[in-house]
Amino acid sequence: MDSVLKKNLLEVAAGQGRITVMTGAGISAESGIPTFRGPEGYWTVGSKEYHPQEMATYSMFRQYPEQVWAWYLYRLGVCRRAYANEGHRALVRLEKLFVERFTLITQNVDGLHLRAGSSPERTFQIHGNIFFMRCADGCRTDLVPMPDFVEGKEKGEPLTEGDRSALRCPACGGWSRPHVLWFDETYNEEHFRFVSSLKIASATDLLLIVGTSGATNLPNQVAWRVHERGGTIVDINIEQDPFSRLAVSGGGHFIQGPAAKVLPEIVDVLKAGMRNRIKVHRPGESSCQARNSNLEIRNKSEIQMTKRPK
Ligand code: OAD
Repeated sequence: MDSVLKKNLLEVAAGQGRITVMTGAGISAESGIPTFRGPEGYWTVGSKEYHPQEMATYSMFRQYPEQVWAWYLYRLGVCRRAYANEGHRALVRLEKLFVERFTLITQNVDGLHLRAGSSPERTFQIHGNIFFMRCADGCRTDLVPMPDFVEGKEKGEPLTEGDRSALRCPACGGWSRPHVLWFDETYNEEHFRFVSSLKIASATDLLLIVGTSGATNLPNQVAWRVHERGGTIVDINIEQDPFSRLAVSGGGHFIQGPAAKVLPEIVDVLKAGMRNRIKVHRPGESSCQARNSNLEIRNKSEIQMTKRPK
């Protein structure tokens, strides 16, 4: 690893600042889920081929609810078969190390971060989660888990009678819709943690951006907020993306490589930085301050090392 990057990571870990991770489809690529803008995404309705950006709209759903549902049930099948990878697991470790200093903002609807063990409290699923649905007419806003008996589909496979009745809103009997953010819709706090994400960005010292093409609104706002407040941005992607330039222009880093390989290395360095922090005792610091700044101490031998000499 680049020595400047390593130094930056160690410094952040040893301080008090917030660490935010923002993920996109690239982190799940090694779990076998095709990225959103990759070649796998196309879908045929009638004689016309659509790109996901055309399929994933409320107006398309209103015109062709069955075809849009069939597409999401295909994606659901892919997500159900997938397993979390080393990248997801590294972020679980990172959360356990930094707890309240840590937030995960994910654009992925595949639920793999939560299945890996990231906590629902600190994981903002800003584009929703395909394992849930909600009333398409908004008669109520709560989320309904996708019933297990609704099966994932092959491409082109139509809905069954059973699907049609399972995909109804239990309250009003109209269509339910997948709990995802569509292209003709806007973010909100209730479902997509819009305000919370921006608030976290405004307090972030280190932003790791992982496997995203940077094509959506909120992730751009998050990245720019961190950039403007002088936070360090580290962009991880197999190829350059718009965030790579932003990261480097602010003194941060672009790491070219697959998330499942790069993230565990980064987390190891941050963990070492955290260890150093526990060992270093600052003279003049009150025992209360010392305790607060060492919230991650896990065992008694580490606590002994930080004790003030009498
Ligand atoms: P994209 O498909 O646009 O981009 C995936 C990114 O991951 C690309 O930049 C790839 O280079 C990178 N990538 C691929 N494999 C990788 C790997 N193994 N390690 C690291 N990076 C890798 O997906 P997103 O940027 O997530 O929103 O798309 C953002 C949003 O656009 C989606 O959440 C979706 C879509 O509109 C909604 O549905 C609202």
